[in-house]
Amino acid sequence: MTAPDFSQTKACVFDAYGTIFDLVSATDRLSAELGEELAPKLGELWRTKQLQYSWLRSLTGHYTSFWDVTRDALDYSFEQLGIKNPALKEKLIEGYRALDAYPDVKPVLAKLKQAGLKTAILSNGSPDMLASGVKGAGLTDLLDAVLSVEDAGVFKPDYRVYQLACDRFDVSPAEICFLSSNGWDAAGAASFGFKVAWINRSKLPIERLPGKPDAIIRSMDDLPALLGLESI
Ligand code: LAC
Repeated sequence: MTAPDFSQTKACVFDAYGTIFDLVSATDRLSAELGEELAPKLGELWRTKQLQYSWLRSLTGHYTSFWDVTRDALDYSFEQLGIKNPALKEKLIEGYRALDAYPDVKPVLAKLKQAGLKTAILSNGSPDMLASGVKGAGLTDLLDAVLSVEDAGVFKPDYRVYQLACDRFDVSPAEICFLSSNGWDAAGAASFGFKVAWINRSKLPIERLPGKPDAIIRSMDDLPALLGLESI
């Protein structure tokens, strides 16, 4: 990969779930009730079904809020894994409103703001889910905007979603540095025209999809250097 050029960046736009918010925290917190073996299994199936439902609903034109999609995915996962505990299901879904932020998020957002860059979240999440997550993680003052797909009525990677960020900041796609830990989201955003850094937190292979990230980093900590802000 040639040296990535992020010199046009005016705004840094972040995916939320898996990128800012640690999804594992949703099931980890309840691992005593779920059991150590079942907790990661449920976490993985829940996320897989959640994403499948978002893509399938987009394909068939049956948009509903990400909150409903997340609940449906949890319902399905409980049935597939034979878990019969409605109280636990409620606790898990409510926990989604208050996920832990990864520890690298806050200091890096602060550095970006200090450098005069705009910052935002652009997520499948519904506005209420995102608002409580952002508030709970203490990120409110570090973000210029929290953008939800709700305004496009379709899920990522539909280009209408990525366009929301260009419209919000009145910039071209190449002036946005987009960050996602989800390889498929990084691919979609790159094919839309954003400059993309894939935060490959889980050390996964690159997706075989159109659109390749301009840079691959291991954590948010690598972002300031990528943007030429290492001296700040
Ligand atoms: C989001 C999902 C894709 O936050 O993680 O948009």
